[in-house]
Amino acid sequence: MKKVDVLLGLQWGDEGKGKIVDVLTPEYDVIARFQGGPNAGHTLEFEGIKHVLHTIPSGIFRENAVNVVGNGVVIDPIIFKKEIDALDKRGVDATQRLKISKKAHLILPSHRLLDAASEAAKGKGKIGSTLKGIGPTYMDKTGRNGIRVGDILSANFKEKYTFLKEKHEQMLGHYGAEGVPTDTENEWFASLDTLKRFELIDSEPYLNDKLKNNQTILAEGAQGSLLDIDFGSYPFVTSSNTVCAGACTGLGIAPNRIGRVIGIFKAYCTRVGSGPFPTELFDEIGETLCEIGHEYGSTTGRKRRCGWLDIPALNYAIMINGVTELNMMKTDVLDTFDTIKVCTGYKVNGELTDQMPFDLTEEVEPVYTELKGWKTDLTKFTNGDALPSELKEYIAFIEKQTGVPISVVSVGPDREQTLFQDVKTVETA
Ligand code: GDP
Ligand code: IMO
Ligand code: MG
Repeated sequence: MKKVDVLLGLQWGDEGKGKIVDVLTPEYDVIARFQGGPNAGHTLEFEGIKHVLHTIPSGIFRENAVNVVGNGVVIDPIIFKKEIDALDKRGVDATQRLKISKKAHLILPSHRLLDAASEAAKGKGKIGSTLKGIGPTYMDKTGRNGIRVGDILSANFKEKYTFLKEKHEQMLGHYGAEGVPTDTENEWFASLDTLKRFELIDSEPYLNDKLKNNQTILAEGAQGSLLDIDFGSYPFVTSSNTVCAGACTGLGIAPNRIGRVIGIFKAYCTRVGSGPFPTELFDEIGETLCEIGHEYGSTTGRKRRCGWLDIPALNYAIMINGVTELNMMKTDVLDTFDTIKVCTGYKVNGELTDQMPFDLTEEVEPVYTELKGWKTDLTKFTNGDALPSELKEYIAFIEKQTGVPISVVSVGPDREQTLFQDVKTVETA
């Protein structure tokens, strides 16, 4: 029986997951998203096209694969319809290639309003949410009040909707916020027709049958491990399990059915929204990373905060996820740097540690190792080209610090700008 390979982000999201899923899709029969919702923005670039996906898995442009939105995902029908319309415009008919779990939860317009009201009430302490209604929807899921995709087929769907909306409007009243505008509600209901055009499935038997029939599955994560509800920089996190275990609960895959775990990380580090970020740079180096890396959010357009690579945080994510191979993204963004710093430890209250402290907001001072830059334009490199020696050293350094091999070095946003590395056993530092 085949296993499910999992691809996920190891930092604070936007590592380049969408690009790599698209690159790897020809090797898989099924691509399955397991958590998150339209807070995600996964960018694909090929043949001069740039496309951002939010809910739909990043295998959708390849004809060979079926894409599944798993039970762990939360769906906003309005955003989903917009995504389908955008694909239609590109000539991609997703109806044959996309299936949706009946157990995925629905984001209601009132969830979005609650998200906004809750953030506004937090003032300076706000999470910096994408305001897509993610937190309130997962709260209703765990609170056992949620509405699922399968419910749209039931006779009393409107009743269920109204009951929940009215509850939300009471809560909105408590915040002093307005209720749901009628036109938004109408748009939401109209968008359900788009959802109904797709096969709504029991995705857990569907995926397990695929495995039994020796088909291959790639599970696509959203956000990043440091935004995980349990293991991220709480409370500045999202509301789902973004780590590998989330693929089990978000798809109905048993832990012993997990195969390769591909951990995606940027050659440096970014974060969008609030919360601690030990290696954040507030100087012109940070600005340079932001400019060269075009570090603006794919979903909200917000400027991403930038800093150096953080090995203790990366190792923590590798541990939680059981990462078997690393993919280093946006390597080309460092092409012009004379020297590159990597954080290898933290000083917390004067004590040196390589462990993630309970509270990253405490005084955490990064300790850096400096490496030489490669000063080479990598964007035209193709597979088989010899890498500059300084880049080889950068790769070897990270492999040694993490004990995990780097199987892909990404040197640009395009599908083609992907260098595959021979995977060998690496020794830890
Ligand atoms: P995701 O959420 O993990 O899928 O990542 P995003 O799409 O939000 O952000 C990654 C951004 O970096 C996108 O604009 C990608 O097109 C771009 N990107 C991905 N890989 C590379 C790379 O190797 N080099 C450069 N310069 N850009 C990249
Ligand atoms: P992808 O899949 C980067 C961040 C938000 C905020 C926090 C909570 O593209 O990597 P939420 O909307 O979930 O309540 O926001 O999480 N965040 C992301 N940051 N990439 C993402 O997704 C993100 N999804 C949520 O900025 O700090
Ligand atoms: Mg993104």
